Amino acid sequence: MKVLGISGSPRKGNNTDRLVKEVLSTITVETEFISLAGKKIDPCIACLGCVEDNICKVKDDMQRLRQKIVDADAYVIGAANYYSVINGLSHCFLERFYQFRHKEGKGVCGKLGVAVGVGGRNGDPVVENIKTFFQYNQIDCVGAVTAQGVASCFTCGYGETCKVGAVYTFFGPGTKINEETTPSLDKQPEKLEEARELGRQLDARLKGFAAAT
Ligand SMILES: Cc1cc2nc3c(=O)[nH]c(=O)nc-3n(C[C@H](O)[C@H](O)[C@H](O)COP(=O)(O)O)c2cc1C
Repeated sequence: MKVLGISGSPRKGNNTDRLVKEVLSTITVETEFISLAGKKIDPCIACLGCVEDNICKVKDDMQRLRQKIVDADAYVIGAANYYSVINGLSHCFLERFYQFRHKEGKGVCGKLGVAVGVGGRNGDPVVENIKTFFQYNQIDCVGAVTAQGVASCFTCGYGETCKVGAVYTFFGPGTKINEETTPSLDKQPEKLEEARELGRQLDARLKGFAAAT
């Protein structure tokens, strides 16, 4: 039994990575964490090259990830909220699951999934997107967790004065960026626990599956 944790955030080591890892932390079967940051994963180009053999023919980093996806029994997939939808890198990654759909391809169908969403405000739209991808690929969603990450406006250098940025939007004019105003997962212990609980639930489901087969 193996669970594959994927963070589709282009910011390595940030909030999405951490929340995915928090889910993995309570799983007792083998786990592997992969960050998509820095990886080249193009969108599906609808070439239909995958119809006969369920293998995508686009040549990029998804080729190396494919076998890991097929070998895993469950997925913990995390993504960041960009413009109230799943960020582009995560979207491309999930679009490429199209290769598994044809002719009732058995690469991912019937497996389990957990959706993880992080946003400057919240990750709610993201988990809805991931759940939809799960549904299309017949991955059974065990649950979802969302949390508030850190919008780039807190570190871009102009956050205190930019009128369209997250600092203004969250707190209003005159707000100083400091430890108190900067969001952090450490300030959301209930979200971290929710993530660990989802890991426990996924673990139990997997063990149930293992006992039944
Ligand atoms: C291009 C871009 C668009 C974003 N749009 C939103 C948004 O619409 N809503 C939101 O809540 N956060 C938004 N954010 C903030 C990110 O979701 C936030 O920084 C989150 O922490 C990213 O995950 P990470 O920390 O794992 O990188 C946006 C960030 C970027 C870079």
